[in-house]
Amino acid sequence: MIEEVKEPVMQNRLLTGKNAVITGCNRGIGLAILKTFVQHGARVYAMIRKENPDFEADCRELTAQTGTEITVVYADFADPDAVKRAGKEILGYKEPIDVLVHNVGIGPPVRMFTMTDMAGIRQTFEVNLFSAVGLSQLLCRNMMRNKQGSIIFLSSAAAYDGGMSLEYNSSKAAVIGAMRSMAVQLGQYQIRVNAIAPGFIGTEMGDSMDPHLQEITLNRCIMKRQGQPEEIADAALFLASDLSRFMTGQVLRVDGGIL
Ligand SMILES: NC(=O)c1ccc[n+]([C@@H]2O[C@H](COP(=O)([O-])OP(=O)(O)OC[C@H]3O[C@@H](n4cnc5c(N)ncnc54)[C@H](OP(=O)(O)O)[C@@H]3O)[C@@H](O)[C@H]2O)c1
Repeated sequence: MIEEVKEPVMQNRLLTGKNAVITGCNRGIGLAILKTFVQHGARVYAMIRKENPDFEADCRELTAQTGTEITVVYADFADPDAVKRAGKEILGYKEPIDVLVHNVGIGPPVRMFTMTDMAGIRQTFEVNLFSAVGLSQLLCRNMMRNKQGSIIFLSSAAAYDGGMSLEYNSSKAAVIGAMRSMAVQLGQYQIRVNAIAPGFIGTEMGDSMDPHLQEITLNRCIMKRQGQPEEIADAALFLASDLSRFMTGQVLRVDGGIL
């Protein structure tokens, strides 16, 4: 169930008139981004893996509370053809796409890399990187036509510190490389491309981290606490909105100060 939406500051909505695509919306950081974006007036294409009547009911409730529309689109991000079909479905609505948030991600448990099979590494790259690049290839043509847009990737503090599994760390570092290439190539179309690198956040993924790793991460964090999904959603709101209109090719670290 969706709890009562905070009183939206109607005159201060940062995404009014914008259409946003958000992947992995049914829980965790993606759900927080969905709620924040609709509270700020965005019309959202909410991409989730499979049919989920509870999520659809939550979307109807959010729509009733905020007056903005949410369209649920299904795709398994481990399947490139399914992602392509879903992207085409979104293009079929023939609306401009202003914002694209690549939030879907998997974080396989940490194992000695010598014991990690290549198929698992490829699978992590498929979900964490290739699917996002494929979806961007499709949807950014719409942004290029309209000469505006903001694309936001979810990387991770682990891209820098090697704290999680080899496949997770390297896929999240590769996300930063893809983000920078896209920023360079899409700047001429006034499309901005940035990434958020969250630290240790209270979601199923964050909480499933090995307790010893959690302790190490908290010790290295200046603020000495776990972040909340809403704190990442606020960073996504900033990057999606015109407040960040002169910012591209950047990684915003939202990690309580992991140095
Ligand atoms: N939590 C953290 O501490 C942390 C830190 C740094 C970066 N991040 C990044 O932030 C993003 C969101 O993380 P989170 O903490 O919210 O993770 P989460 O709670 O595990 O949620 C992951 C989301 O991705 C979706 N997903 C996973 N595999 C999918 C697939 N094959 N097809 C479609 N959807 C799929 C999940 O859908 P299902 O419910 O269907 O599985 C879910 O909506 C990820 O990219 C993650 O790497 C998180």
